[in-house]
Amino acid sequence: MNNELFDQVDEYISQLVGREDEVLAGVISSLDEEGIAQISVSANQGKFLQVMALACNARRILELGTLGGYSTIWMGRALPEGGRLISLEVSEHHATVARRHIERARLSHKIEVRTGKAMDILAAMIAAGEEPFDMIFIDADKPPYTEYFQHALSLSRPGTIIICDNVIRKGAVLDKTSDDERVQGVQRFNAMLGSNKNVTATILQTIGAKEHDGMAIAVVNR
Ligand code: SAH
Ligand code: DHB
Ligand code: MG
Repeated sequence: MNNELFDQVDEYISQLVGREDEVLAGVISSLDEEGIAQISVSANQGKFLQVMALACNARRILELGTLGGYSTIWMGRALPEGGRLISLEVSEHHATVARRHIERARLSHKIEVRTGKAMDILAAMIAAGEEPFDMIFIDADKPPYTEYFQHALSLSRPGTIIICDNVIRKGAVLDKTSDDERVQGVQRFNAMLGSNKNVTATILQTIGAKEHDGMAIAVVNR
């Protein structure tokens, strides 16, 4: 594959419609300094999430997997006054770094990073009768994606948009004998998505600055 061309086109798109300001660029550079993996979404993918949040008039957004807060800030910037984003993160270190950047982005009054295992927090939210979210971005650990999606459905309403990152994994999802539990996790998820009657869904293949991958996009049926 012509990776150089894909990189150049990604850069071309970013320059036009996916420019990072110093806050977003600061998240990416701090990940190296903090010894955190460079697995944030790309600039264009961040912009895509922001556009989707605006398209669905999101006032309440839920994210699974905060890392340094990069995707969080892209989406948080789409929130109206009084809007709210809750992002779930298992690592205290990641959460601390993310909160610092969210503060720099002046979004602390709208964004809360909650630490703990996503599954536990989701179960607690459902039990507490948490208000439904308008948009949910699933980007935490891959093996339980199917269960995350089911919990996300419990925290949704008709019309809620659910987006899931990394569902193609360089095409490794085609390998029926893969022993990578992350690949197996998204294979199981994709199969479930294909037969789920509660949503209308598609998967977009993504290529560019990040490795060849894909994002699933589902709308909860009305
Ligand atoms: N959404 C981020 C990237 C997230 S990377 C961005 O694009 O900027 C995945 C994150 O999920 C990591 O920070 C990891 O610590 C977190 N994670 C892994 N397992 C988790 C779990 N069980 N519950 C919550 N977060 C988890
Ligand atoms: C991984 C996780 C991600 O969310 C991502 O975007 C890329 C890679 C990973 O765990 O390997
Ligand atoms: Mg991801």
